[in-house]
Amino acid sequence: MNPRTLLVFSTSLFLFHLLLVSSENVNLDFPVFSFRNFTLLGDSYLRNGVLGLTRELEVPTSSSGCVIYNHPIAFFDPETNVTASFSTRFAFSIGNINPSSFGDGLTFFMSPNNQIWGSAGGYLGLVNSSQLTKNRFTAIEFDTRQDLRFNDPDENHVGLDIDSLISIKTANPMLQSVNLKSGNLITAWIDYMNEKKKVEVFLSYSSFKPEKPLLTVRIDLSVYLKEFMYVGFSASTEGSTELHYIENWSFQTMGFHPMRPRIHPHNVSDSSVPHTPPIPVSDSSNRHHKRIGLGLGIGFPALFCSALIVFGWVSVKKWRDIKTEKSLKAELVTGPRQYSYKEIKSATRGFNSSRILGHGAFGTVYKAFFTDLGTISAVKRSKHAHEGKTEFLAELSIIACLRHKNLVPLQGWCVEKGELLLVYEFMPHGSLDKVLYAESEHGNPLQWSYRYNIAVGLASVLTYLHQECEQQVIHRDIKASNIMLDGNYNARLGDFGLARIMDHGKSPVSTLTAGTMGYLAPEYLQYGKATEKTDVFSYGVVILELASGRRPIEREAESHRMVNLVDWVWRLHSEGKIIEAADKIMNGDFDEKGMETLLLIGLSCANPNSMERPPMRGVLQILNNEAEPMVVPKAKPTLTFSNSLPLSIDDIVLDCDDSLMPDSQGNQTQLK
Ligand SMILES: *[C@@H]1O[C@H](CO)[C@@H](O)[C@H](O)[C@H]1NC(C)=O
Ligand SMILES: *[C@@H]1O[C@H](CO)[C@@H](O)[C@H](O)[C@H]1NC(C)=O
Ligand SMILES: *[C@@H]1O[C@H](CO)[C@@H](O)[C@H](O)[C@H]1NC(C)=O
Ligand SMILES: *[C@@H]1O[C@H](CO)[C@@H](O)[C@H](O)[C@H]1NC(C)=O
Ligand SMILES: *[C@@H]1O[C@H](CO)[C@@H](O)[C@H](O)[C@H]1NC(C)=O
Repeated sequence: MNPRTLLVFSTSLFLFHLLLVSSENVNLDFPVFSFRNFTLLGDSYLRNGVLGLTRELEVPTSSSGCVIYNHPIAFFDPETNVTASFSTRFAFSIGNINPSSFGDGLTFFMSPNNQIWGSAGGYLGLVNSSQLTKNRFTAIEFDTRQDLRFNDPDENHVGLDIDSLISIKTANPMLQSVNLKSGNLITAWIDYMNEKKKVEVFLSYSSFKPEKPLLTVRIDLSVYLKEFMYVGFSASTEGSTELHYIENWSFQTMGFHPMRPRIHPHNVSDSSVPHTPPIPVSDSSNRHHKRIGLGLGIGFPALFCSALIVFGWVSVKKWRDIKTEKSLKAELVTGPRQYSYKEIKSATRGFNSSRILGHGAFGTVYKAFFTDLGTISAVKRSKHAHEGKTEFLAELSIIACLRHKNLVPLQGWCVEKGELLLVYEFMPHGSLDKVLYAESEHGNPLQWSYRYNIAVGLASVLTYLHQECEQQVIHRDIKASNIMLDGNYNARLGDFGLARIMDHGKSPVSTLTAGTMGYLAPEYLQYGKATEKTDVFSYGVVILELASGRRPIEREAESHRMVNLVDWVWRLHSEGKIIEAADKIMNGDFDEKGMETLLLIGLSCANPNSMERPPMRGVLQILNNEAEPMVVPKAKPTLTFSNSLPLSIDDIVLDCDDSLMPDSQGNQTQLK
């Protein structure tokens, strides 16, 4: 390498750090609090992982406290001029030793200042009583005392405050039967959607997020959300015995997309397919960061590499004016990159049949070795370029902007020579159906802990797709053969060919029925309408498969009748012996309570009545033992449609693909 190349190389590394630092989404989750990550100011304290914000003893004295997360959080990316959206959840309680002596309340705040601690009394620990305009903040107050100086409406209200305790808008939690002073544990959710310029606050005594926000404020916070802000909690008392506790806290920013792919859909698209805009991303992972680091770092001893970074850092000033910098930056933000046809062809030995991993809805999947990068990937190649175009573009535009640890990561794409190719991270264990059936038959049953973990991972990614993306994504094709397993048997959802992005709140668009029959919700079969509830149904079927090791529709050995898995498990449940549905191949080697939970979740998700199916977030909470399992009726609910279902099971079996037939599995559906 000559010095010039070195310089370019190290400069690019440096720029990369800059870009990533300034525009990465954060995802914090503190089930318990620790001293390491928080600064405690004033009377705040930490005990048994719980934050106390005001003094617990020595009443009646006034007290104020403030707790700040140590690291500044990026809310604005000057590179792309993007303001983040954010979403936070925390469980708090406001207790009282002497119920007649209450006040003043607590706040969640964001501030450019990490020493924001303010005065006791009506100042809520957020504003300094001798310098009312000193502290800058955007806060949600949970106020338990009526302070007329700040136009408080009553002694039980939630409000949005900006740089002043006179709220922009307030709401009374009693509207949703929540009393802040009850002493009960209350969970609060605060969401800000920058696109919609809207703040929403939800409150509940349970850990389930209510459907309706308590407080909605239409406001553009991008004026207040600075490049870096500190976030935290504050509270105060005024001669009262009120106690303020925060039990746990999670916080995410969304909307930065450092990896936006540069696609030119008009070159390849037909006009019937509008190009779907990239989805703002919510993810904490710096996987991207690591991967690039790895790619560039291969073959370089760490020391040499850091020397280069320092060298680059020193040199970057000199390069600032040079025109090439702009194009360099543009190259660096692309993330999933465009591959050349030649590159992919040589990595798959000219699409050699020995490299075929499987055949999916979209086309053939090949294993590819990129020798210069030292990586193994899976390449999806469209069967017929023209027919595949629609699906290809749908998949690319959706997947390229999603980031979640339970998705199959997209590494790149190629549109050349009339071919459409997608490059994915290679999944060493193939698909769930292969592991569940083919490998089980060869005496290698999938362990219980992996099964449970797969159920959790899948619930987590569906929660993300359904509820946490700015634009809701309905997958539409959740089935065991679309769930890939990485090196640690973590579930990775793939094959977004059929997914469509939907705006939250819009009614689902009617589309053709697609996917595999056993996984389809009755209302989807009937009306062809995909919603998040149809995804939940398919999830339920996959969970039942995972627990029972049986296919969604299977031919019974003795009677040769077709048996529907949901019906079969439901029958065992009504006979009070649901545990007998557990996969025999595990030889009883599983946690009985966990197994029962899994089967009950499977049934409640596969409830024929879509209204009865739980939201994915609720499922995730049950799996994480944060909520009680739901009650499943002993008898499977029956549904009446205006006319009967179009297909009986036997029609379905004649109609559907061969993945229902146990013996045709194996290598066929290894990677779809
Ligand atoms: C937060 O803490 C409360 C009380 O300990 C608990 O009930 C709740 O499940 C916790 N939530 C999360 C998400 O950890
Ligand atoms: C919490 O602090 C520890 C020690 O400083 C650090 O390793 C960890 O990354 C911090 N966690 C978060 C979420 O900031
Ligand atoms: C950033 O966005 C704001 C508001 O959309 C706009 O007024 C401003 O000119 C933009 N700045 C740059 C550098 O693009
Ligand atoms: C309020 O500001 C004054 C002057 O800057 C300072 O001395 C005092 O400590 C502050 N009070 C609080 C509670 O921060
Ligand atoms: C696609 O179109 C854009 C703009 O018209 C052009 O710059 C780009 O080179 C085209 N890409 C391909 C692969 O043809």
